[in-house]
Amino acid sequence: MEKPTNRVFSGVQPTGNLHLGNYLGAIRNFVGLQDTHECLYCVVDMHAITVWQDPKELTANTREVAAAYIASGINPETHIIFNQSKVTAHAELAWILNCVARIGWLNRMTQFKDKAGKDREKASVGLYAYPVLMAADILAYRATHVPVGEDQKQHLELARDTAQKFNNDFEAEDFFPLPEPLIMGAATRVMSLRDGTKKMSKSDPSAYSRITLSDNADEIAQKIRKARTDPEPLPEVKDGLAERPEAANLVNIYAALSDTTTEQVLKEFGGKMFSEFKPALADLAVDKLSPITGEMKHLLADPAYIDGELEKGAERARAIADPVLKRVKEIVGFI
Ligand code: AMP
Ligand code: TRP
Repeated sequence: MEKPTNRVFSGVQPTGNLHLGNYLGAIRNFVGLQDTHECLYCVVDMHAITVWQDPKELTANTREVAAAYIASGINPETHIIFNQSKVTAHAELAWILNCVARIGWLNRMTQFKDKAGKDREKASVGLYAYPVLMAADILAYRATHVPVGEDQKQHLELARDTAQKFNNDFEAEDFFPLPEPLIMGAATRVMSLRDGTKKMSKSDPSAYSRITLSDNADEIAQKIRKARTDPEPLPEVKDGLAERPEAANLVNIYAALSDTTTEQVLKEFGGKMFSEFKPALADLAVDKLSPITGEMKHLLADPAYIDGELEKGAERARAIADPVLKRVKEIVGFI
């Protein structure tokens, strides 16, 4: 069985409110990898249901993520986009890997602690096992590279440990490659516009905390205008952002959207006040995001097209994952 050397896999959950963090931390980087890698981009609906999802909204949100992929520039003909639940290999491999990964590893996952909150007893079993399903997503394709935002680093380490333990336990040498995280760009962790110490998130109760991929130009500009800042001018060098999380966040967003570095942005705006920087950032954000949000609206008007692309993608994904799963079953000793 041939071993891939440049296969990319990543996923986004269809849980609504797709935001600038999802775009800059993940989706935008997915687009750039298409020239050099064989890419699979998944809408991870099975991950989404680890917390309650209204079924109708889940369907709509699945199409929304698929539309965001295509509108951002992922080509569903030359690469693969699909939704996870259509390819049964993910669930089957996840079970086998549940028997490889250790409880101690899962107990260290900070995202579970955050999402489960105080009443951990009431969290779903799926939420706890979530990182093992993520490992299965990646390993079912023997993917070598995984572009994600910084918050997924710990999950990627668990995927590597699981691959390594499987290889060792079954003397399968290097059957599973150890997937490498690709954490790219100037905004690998976009923060809330209301609180620079909190991650921008789909579930923040304040709509002003995030710019979403369904906001129109006015909403984008207004959210940036209202973003929390401090009264100081922007510093000339990066060190000056150390104790200023809100300022750092806006500068990093500017750098990522304009494909440059934080240092470069400070060269241009160092010494200037937010009253000057914010309108420039708003213009840039509208300029970069509105073609995407416009195209998403256009695509979402034709759900049958999106469903068709997801179905074709799933078929091609199965053609890769099914033989891997078959081999895994042989290695484990299933007949
Ligand atoms: P999720 O919405 O949790 O499925 O995340 C999808 C992708 O977006 C993952 O690669 C995350 O790491 C990334 N992501 C989510 N929130 C942020 C954020 N605030 N900043 C940067 N990347 C993020
Ligand atoms: N856990 C990821 C997130 O919330 C989504 C995800 C699921 C994923 N499976 C994956 C990301 C596989 C990369 C590879 O952001």
